[in-house]
Amino acid sequence: MLTLEEFAGKIRQSGDIVVFTGAGISTESGIPDFRSPGGIWTRYRPVTFQEYMSSETARIEAWKRRLDGWEQHKNAKPNVGHYFVQSLDAKGKLIGLITQNVDGLHSEAGLPDDKIVELHGTNRKIICLECGRSYDPDAIIKRLVGDFASPKCDACSGILKSATVSFGQAMPEAAMRRAQEWTEQAEIFIVMGSSLQVQPAASFPVVAKRNGALLAIINREPTPLDDYADFVHQGAIGEFCGRFGEMIADG
Ligand code: APR
Ligand code: ZN
Repeated sequence: MLTLEEFAGKIRQSGDIVVFTGAGISTESGIPDFRSPGGIWTRYRPVTFQEYMSSETARIEAWKRRLDGWEQHKNAKPNVGHYFVQSLDAKGKLIGLITQNVDGLHSEAGLPDDKIVELHGTNRKIICLECGRSYDPDAIIKRLVGDFASPKCDACSGILKSATVSFGQAMPEAAMRRAQEWTEQAEIFIVMGSSLQVQPAASFPVVAKRNGALLAIINREPTPLDDYADFVHQGAIGEFCGRFGEMIADG
């Protein structure tokens, strides 16, 4: 297991870093994660894609949740963790960022789109599942007043849905391919803020390690891959990145 100084040395020397993030990197921006105490799945049961497609009640439930979290998402700003990832790119060290998050904060922190793979899609867009037309979330959220029916497409009356990947929905092929490519090129693979419970996303750190990459995990709680990693920091991402950013400043 590397010490913090040894890990900093590796980061300073490397130009082939992949970062993999989960909801834990956005909690310090005010967006709850899923499996921590008080997290989304401790309050709601997920609405599967099949339920969403077959039941108006399930769709209305999903939109009510979207409405619930709307203010948090709208007001959320990137935090030290997002800017730390962006700083690796600014130093020419980042092959790419693979994120499970749908909040768009990595992009807001200035990471270029061609360096971001959103494995679980984005909630920054709403799409018609029939004709593919895309809508601005603000415009659709505004329709959700009173005893609302689930929003339908203005052009074809098709079902509208956040452009996120629900349980039971197929993973985006191009995103998965790109994530696989980057993972195989990684010299250092850094996991930040993920419980590593959800497949196929949680397989990328394993593929990286199998390919000879140095695996680092920065997370508040233990993860199933901690014993397999070369460097583990258990604690808050913001605090860690603040300190660590200084250590690699001249790298
Ligand atoms: N600093 C460090 N770690 C944190 C912080 C923080 N500020 N806040 C939370 N964490 C850690 C938690 O301890 C937890 O282990 O981040 C992890 C978040 O895990 P999850 O809530 O399971 O989120 P994630 O791993 O992204 O879930 C993966 O599950 O439901 C699906 O699609 C959803 O993309 C999501 C996927
Ligand atoms: Zn349509």
